[in-house]
Amino acid sequence: MALLNRANLNSFNLLLNHYYKFATGTVRLKTRGQISLSSHLRQEKIKQMSGNFADSENSPELSNVKSRTFETIIANRRDQACRSMLVQVKSLDSQDDLQNYCAQFGDILSMHHYQKDKEHYILIEFKDIVSINEIMSSASFGDEVSIAPIKSSVFWFRKRQFTLSYKKNQKKIMLATENGCTYPTEKEIANFLHNAKSISGQIINLYEALKLNDLEIRLRFHTAYHLEQYFSRLFQNIKVLPFGSSLNGFGTKRCDLDLVLILDNIQNKSTNMVFHTKSMKLNERREKKEFMGILASTMQHFIPGIHNVRKILEARVPIIKFNYNYTNIECDLSATNMTAVYMSELLNLYGEIDWRVRPLVTVIRKWAKSQKITSDVPGQWITNFSLSLLVLFYLQQQHILPSLKTLKLYATRDDIRCTENGIDCTFQRNLEKLPAEYKYKSNQDNLESLLYGFFKFISTFNFYTDGICIREGTVIPKPSSSALYITNPLETTLNVCKNVNTYELNLINEKAHDALFILETHNSKNNNDWGIMVLLKMKNFEIMGTLKLNRKEQSIVDYLENYSDEISKVDINPSKKKKKTV
Ligand code: CTP
Ligand code: MG
Repeated sequence: MALLNRANLNSFNLLLNHYYKFATGTVRLKTRGQISLSSHLRQEKIKQMSGNFADSENSPELSNVKSRTFETIIANRRDQACRSMLVQVKSLDSQDDLQNYCAQFGDILSMHHYQKDKEHYILIEFKDIVSINEIMSSASFGDEVSIAPIKSSVFWFRKRQFTLSYKKNQKKIMLATENGCTYPTEKEIANFLHNAKSISGQIINLYEALKLNDLEIRLRFHTAYHLEQYFSRLFQNIKVLPFGSSLNGFGTKRCDLDLVLILDNIQNKSTNMVFHTKSMKLNERREKKEFMGILASTMQHFIPGIHNVRKILEARVPIIKFNYNYTNIECDLSATNMTAVYMSELLNLYGEIDWRVRPLVTVIRKWAKSQKITSDVPGQWITNFSLSLLVLFYLQQQHILPSLKTLKLYATRDDIRCTENGIDCTFQRNLEKLPAEYKYKSNQDNLESLLYGFFKFISTFNFYTDGICIREGTVIPKPSSSALYITNPLETTLNVCKNVNTYELNLINEKAHDALFILETHNSKNNNDWGIMVLLKMKNFEIMGTLKLNRKEQSIVDYLENYSDEISKVDINPSKKKKKTV
């Protein structure tokens, strides 16, 4: 069991190595003795793709540089999730007993507390996964009679007498987080915004108040790991990876958690005994739907903490929606969808290239929600993902972000990635290797200018004839009659905005005009509601005065605010009149 868990711990690293070995051609993926069609396709693709990197093949410099920043972050977070356990306690008073009990099984690195409704939870991070395995083997089921006896990954700590099996020598661990996962209220956010010195400062304050903190990220990885543990009891080679806005830095508190289930290919060993198995082709749509349907029912009936399971199996990418009660997260689970993971990596990279990207995306997403341009339910309106692509495209036009074509041009052999269905997801992943113009940008506009510029851009863009191409970084003639056309950067035959209708497009246009007017007329701090408070419809809160960001957050805000003020002032002409499309 310990061995199996240790294997799980390292499995993601193996997965990563797999891709690396793909690229170097040192491994041929096999499925039950046969090279699967998708692996074959992938190999052919990679062979073709490798041709472009002949120069880097023998370069010791490049082969030593494994620029997997995003992947390394994911691997580290997954490792942290494997070494952590979630325990429900009666109240915070149980912390000492819990620590004493757990310390018997190994070194504790950190403890984080949060409350969900009236329930208290403590996330304990151990130094070694073995400690958790030992705790699991000494745990028991509760007193209830009619239960599905599944060994869950979430525990309830019963406060009863226990004798320490050896003298505790670990000193008391201070909670790294107490009452984590509390979200700022609209009133508190309004207060942060009111107190900023400039509109740029407001945008930074908004971003700092809404971005996911360390505990929230831990709990997202932990949720993925819990699912992976359950599914691993059915399948040998299964992974559940988080992706989407929880990972690319565009996510805000309470955003959904996107999860993808991946069946890694099993290494074929030449043993005497071979398992009997059934065939399973998740690349085939019908089989995938059936598989997801069965998984959804299993999750609903047997996995503790999972509630409100909804199957959305007819969509282009079938998903299972569910709530995970212990971490209070709404999740979307899809299967074998590596393109979406690489897309998150691309968006994350764009977020890393310039510090202004994430605050700008955050304020624009929040603006769109406040204007009912986006919605939590899917429909004929633009999604947060497409809206983020629109912002990235605008920043490409401002020479702040490179095109995907440029990122591909600078890719090395280490960057080769290809999905299960042959989509080439190769692009330079190491910021250090980008062309100098993207490291030392000539455009140093502050966030206020960029926000204004974005609204100007979308209110003047000819969406009726033109489409947007992040890959080329250019405007393209619209190749179809869709109201809004934004090419999927990795799968260029797809339009990510195919769902958007003309009414919704006109609404975006109209609201962008309104936003310009607001930024032109409400930019003075003299009013109670000013700048983006008006933009986000944060109305007339009485000012509470005393609420503050913590010291670290405040020092970042002060630094960035002063820095962006020095750079440039937005060129706002108050005499400009509000324009509105009819
Ligand atoms: N994605 C994609 N192609 C699409 C839609 C989504 O590749 N047409 C990928 C992107 O990586 C995206 C992720 O799937 O980030 C999750 O999609 P979604 O949840 O719609 O977007 P998020 O960016 O996560 O935004 P939100 O915070 O609204 O969930
Ligand atoms: Mg999402």
